[in-house]
Amino acid sequence: MDLFTALKERRSCRNYTGKEIEPDKLEKILEAGGWAPSVMNLQPWRFYVIKSHSLKARLKHSCESLAQEIFVASGWKWVSKYKFDFLVEAPVLIAVAASPKDTGADQFIPGRGTGYACSCCAAVQNMLLAAHALGVDTLWFTLYDTPRAKEILGIPGELDLVSIVVAGYCAEPPKNVPRKPLAELTVTL
Ligand SMILES: Cc1cc2nc3c(=O)[nH]c(=O)nc-3n(C[C@H](O)[C@H](O)[C@H](O)COP(=O)(O)O)c2cc1C
Repeated sequence: MDLFTALKERRSCRNYTGKEIEPDKLEKILEAGGWAPSVMNLQPWRFYVIKSHSLKARLKHSCESLAQEIFVASGWKWVSKYKFDFLVEAPVLIAVAASPKDTGADQFIPGRGTGYACSCCAAVQNMLLAAHALGVDTLWFTLYDTPRAKEILGIPGELDLVSIVVAGYCAEPPKNVPRKPLAELTVTL
């Protein structure tokens, strides 16, 4: 698939069939993550591939508790209606974690220190695009309680859980999501 087609056609999927991801496709998706640019080429990401139903179910339960807390704090109705079923329906979750120490020159720049997280996000986007090119649907997911999710997934304390990629096959075609016009987003100096 042409890169620009993949960029435009990839959409977030929030409802999955239980169909497994073929092992060779999963390997290609992870490999694509590893080809992302990273600060000082530190490749700080660690990929936790979660297939266990019980771990996914525990994660889902902890996310539901978090959503309830956010609803109480914010009053946002969408949070109370948000369904986390995709966390158990999708065959694979890929938790992307890294050490905040692996942040390169950022550590000496006041107000920064995000290099490790930016690198992980580049890896996530690579995985999303690779998955799409392979016909696999995904969701970039962050609505989790970080300490609780780390504990459930056995991610060491020194690593930050930057994001989770939900991956599988969508039950319904994802909705098209509009984008802002480029002119609204661009400043040419
Ligand atoms: C950093 C980041 C975090 C996100 N976290 C969530 C999330 O927790 N739950 C969710 O449903 N979507 C999440 N998304 C997906 C966005 O909602 C989605 O990308 C956006 O609405 C555009 O839709 P599209 O991906 O279909 O183009 C996240 C996206 C990014 C980049």
